[in-house]
This record gives sequence, structure tokens and C-alpha cells, in this order.
Amino acid sequence: MADILGISAFYHDSAACLVRDGTILAAAQEERFTRKKHDASFPGNAIRYCLQEAHCAVTDLKYIVFYDKPLVKFERLLETYLSFAPRGRRSFVAAMPVWLKEKLFLKAMLCKEFAALAGVKKSALPPLLFTEHHEAHAASAFFPSPFRTAAVLCMDGVGEWATTSAWLGQDNQLTPLWDIPFPHSLGLLYSAFTYYTGFKVNSGEYKVMGLAPYGEPKYVQTIYDHLLDLKPDGTFRLNMEYLNYCTGLTMTNARFHALFGGPPRPPESLLRQQDMDLARSIQEVTEEVMLRLASTMQRETGAEHLCLAGGVALNCVGNGKILRAGPFQGVWIQPAAGDAGGAVGAALAAWHQLDEQPRALRTDGGDGMQGALLGPAFSDAEIEPFLRSKDAPYVRLSDAELSNRIAEELAAEKVIGWFQGRMEFGPRALGARSIIGDARSPKMQSVMNLKIKYRESFRPFAPSVLRERVADYFEMDADSPYMLLVAPVVEGRRAAMTEAQKALWGIELLNVPRSDIPAVTHVDYSARIQTVHAETNPRYYHLLKAFEAKTGCGVIVNTSFNVRGEPIVCTPEDAYRCFMRTEIDTLVLGNCVLDKIDQKPLVENTDWRKEFVLD
Ligand SMILES: [Fe+2]
Repeated sequence: MADILGISAFYHDSAACLVRDGTILAAAQEERFTRKKHDASFPGNAIRYCLQEAHCAVTDLKYIVFYDKPLVKFERLLETYLSFAPRGRRSFVAAMPVWLKEKLFLKAMLCKEFAALAGVKKSALPPLLFTEHHEAHAASAFFPSPFRTAAVLCMDGVGEWATTSAWLGQDNQLTPLWDIPFPHSLGLLYSAFTYYTGFKVNSGEYKVMGLAPYGEPKYVQTIYDHLLDLKPDGTFRLNMEYLNYCTGLTMTNARFHALFGGPPRPPESLLRQQDMDLARSIQEVTEEVMLRLASTMQRETGAEHLCLAGGVALNCVGNGKILRAGPFQGVWIQPAAGDAGGAVGAALAAWHQLDEQPRALRTDGGDGMQGALLGPAFSDAEIEPFLRSKDAPYVRLSDAELSNRIAEELAAEKVIGWFQGRMEFGPRALGARSIIGDARSPKMQSVMNLKIKYRESFRPFAPSVLRERVADYFEMDADSPYMLLVAPVVEGRRAAMTEAQKALWGIELLNVPRSDIPAVTHVDYSARIQTVHAETNPRYYHLLKAFEAKTGCGVIVNTSFNVRGEPIVCTPEDAYRCFMRTEIDTLVLGNCVLDKIDQKPLVENTDWRKEFVLD
């Protein structure tokens, strides 16, 4: 028996993953335990959880594998500095002490942390290995995929040198094909526009994607003329005269601002039409690059399937277009496509590439991520004493009673906090730590945003749909278990807008019902789809089945169980707190159901809204 621990840390979204004989036993992000969003510190809590889940000690591990080669990254920083000096001095001075203190001596530091965590001498630790950043992404995309052979495309901000990398995956081998080196980065170009339109880099990219349908692609040509030299094969170079990330502490510079007519939008200020047009433009450019790269890879490899990872693979609109464009029969995307997934890739790369162990593909065509339900679970035997300690009234129902009661409440437009089984790994809530509602309800979108999430949003929520019914609602008939594909609502369900409605703007536009499932339909009729499968997510599936039996509708709204700026809840206590602080009507913890009406009000001394930084 061989246990391998993969870890990802110190950039953003630290995580740990434990793989036993090639099977992923556990994976979790550090932020869920520390309650600090995108926590990048040493993932001690996530590691302890993974070891506990596998009943294994640090000293039992065959290897510990880190997802990045620290010296290669240091070399990139140094060379970037040298080639841009003296302009780059300021960012280098800011980055350098951190690198010198922490990253360059990463190995020594990791050994110290592990020795402390295990309570042993450093000499007793298992071997500590390092994969390259993009190798970890590629391994996370291919090895858990359901494909024996696939083209593998990784696109992100930056790893060590590569920002885009192409691989061929065959059985247990990943062969590097080519890459695009730093500073030419699709992820960083998208981040530059994220920054310029007033959102937070590394987490606001999905907002730019959500904003895009409100805009016109007015700046596409400007981007091609000045910023991005895109070749017919999808490879590209950026014009660094407009971008600041090599030499400054911001993403864009004065030349960039002059090109688009002014300074960046201050965060939280009012959105302008121009921001929407910029969002639409960079989104279209990104989709074009993704499509060209995908078809080049299909031509070069002849592969029938494509695997994707890296932060850009969270661009589910682009992913959906690759799927619909059809160069590949199947597309599989690592659910933790960002750096957290590097922990999975690092562990699997050691098992398959270093130890040359074969891959065991599942016979049912499923993937190795197990619905991404790889985190901590809490039994009713743990939940009930917790609820009693809080003096919180609840009822405990059988599985069948539970599905029926919650389906009924959903149909009555109640908002439900749904906490079941193992927590999701990756950025999306997939029915284990979700807030759910009726997708048919015209008011659900604004109720959930204003009374639960405490935000205004220009994005609709995502639908969870029974796998067998996906084609009845959306122009897609494929698995999308990880909510990483966007497709339009079928034409027969769409609602046309009146002239008066067309004159509305921004968020008001979102409140115009666009289909018979308005809570999950964007202004351009698109939806970010999660297909729900009986095999991987049985309790969630049965709930949807019960809702369908009552209403005829096989779709519900699914949003992550948290408030704005908070990491997704992990424990029953996190969930209970979020339930009590918001206007969620009903909380389901395993088989226990809490009605808000029965609860005593929560007394808190501080304003919890100040607890989380805005995302
Ligand atoms: Fe990355």
C-alpha cells in the first residue's frame, strides 16, 4: 500500500490531497478550515484532515509532493527582473524578501512544518519531491479523467515559466508537447482586465465573465491591435508595453489606461457600460484563443478527447464553446482547475510518472474525482449533539421523508441550506454545501442575492439539473458534474423581452425573466450547468427527483453555502452560523431539519458582515 500526499501552497488557495495506490482518498483547501478565503499559508489543517481520513501518519507516507519547483520560479523572477531592470525594481524589491525568506528555502521550511506536524525529527520524514507547476496541472486534468488517451491543455496566469502548456496523455504517461512562456499569459491578460474593470485579481475573473453578456465586443480589435498578437494556431504574444505585472505592483499601466480612455474603475463603484463592453471584449478574445488552441491540439495529436486545467479552465463559457465547436468528442475539466488542484496533480504525477504505476479507468465511464466530494463529512451522531449544545430545535427525518419535505419547501419558494456528506473540493458547491431554491421562481434570484448573500449581482445562479433531463432544458447533452460548462437554455423555454424591458440596464435587466427557469438564466439565455448523477451524489439526486415528481421540473437553483467573501462552510457549526445570520428558511444537516421560525434569535456582539473581506 502506497500513500502519497500532494500539497499546493504559498501562492493562492493552499490545499492537500491524499492518494492511496492511485485512488484519491481525500482532498481539501486550507481556506475551509481557517475561514480565510483563498488562504495561501502552509495547509496544516488540510493535511491533518487528509491523514486522518486515510488513517495514516506523516511517517507512513511514501512521498510528500509539492506542486511547484521553487528554484525554477525563483529563476523566473530573477530573469524577469534582469530583463526589465531598472523599471522592475519596485516589484522585485517587494517580492524578493518573501521569496528569499520563504520560497527559496521552501524545502527546509516544508521539512520543518512537517516535522512539527508529525512530532518527529526531520530525518524521519518521507522523501519530499517537487513537480513542475504545469506538470501538476496537467496530471490533475488527465489522470483522474475518464479517458485512456487525451490531449491536455493547461492555461493559467503563471507557473514557473509556462503560462500555457500542451501535453499528450496516454495511459499512465503525460508527454509534454509545447508551451508558451511567461510573460505571455492568457490568464494574466484576463486578470489585467479584471483589475481594470475594478474587480479583484485571482477571484474576480468570474465576475468579468458574468458581466460580459451585458456588453458589446467593442474593444476586440483594439485588443488584437495593441495587446495580443494572436496566431492562427492559437499561440500568442502579449505586448508588454501596456502591462505592468513584470515591472510594477499593478496589472496595467498608464499606456493601457490611455488606450481604453481612463483610469481603472475603483472597486465597488458603479459599473459603467464601458466596463461591460470591456468584459465582453476580453471574454470574446479569450474564447477565440481557447478555441484555436483546442483545434490546434486536436490536429496535432489526433486525440478524440480533451482535458483542461489551470485557472483559465474555470472560464466555463469558453469551455462550453470548445465542447460545442466539436473538435473533440469529449471534454473533461479538473473541478479544482486552479492551484488547489495542483495538490491532486502532484500526488498523481508521483504515482503514475515517477513510480510508473498503471491507471485503473473506471468501467462505468466515470472519472476519478468522485463528484469532487473529497472533504470532511459529519454523521448525524456528530450533528445531533452539536444541535443540542446550541439548544436548536430540529426534527430528524428518514431519507424518504427528507426528500419529500424539502422538495415541498422548495416548491413553496423557501430557501434551503443543504449540508450533506463530504465537502466539495474546488471552488464550486455541488450539492454537499449548497444553498438551494426553486429555479422557476421569478423572485428567487433577488431573494437569494439580497437576503442571503448580501450582495447585488449581475450573475444569475447556477442550475443543478438531473443528468437525464439536461437536454430538456439546455442545448447540451453531456455530463457537466462540476458546473464548468455553460450552454444556452433551449429555445422553447425562452421568454422574449418587451421593448420596455429592453430599455432596462444592468442588474435590472437580470430581473426580467428570460425563461421558465428565470433564476438560472442569464440575459443572453446562457446557464452554468451542473448535471446531477445518482452514482456520485445520491442524496442530492433523490431530492431533485422528489422535486420533479411534485412539480414536473428537474432543475433547482444551486449556490454555494456562504455569504459574500466567506469561504464555503465546512462544519455543521459553520453552516448553522450562516443559517442563523441570514434569511435562509430551512437548514438541513444530514437527516436533521431546522426551521428558522422555531429558532431563538442569534445574539452576537460584533457585526459579522465585517468579518469577511469583500471578494
Ligand atoms: Fe497554476
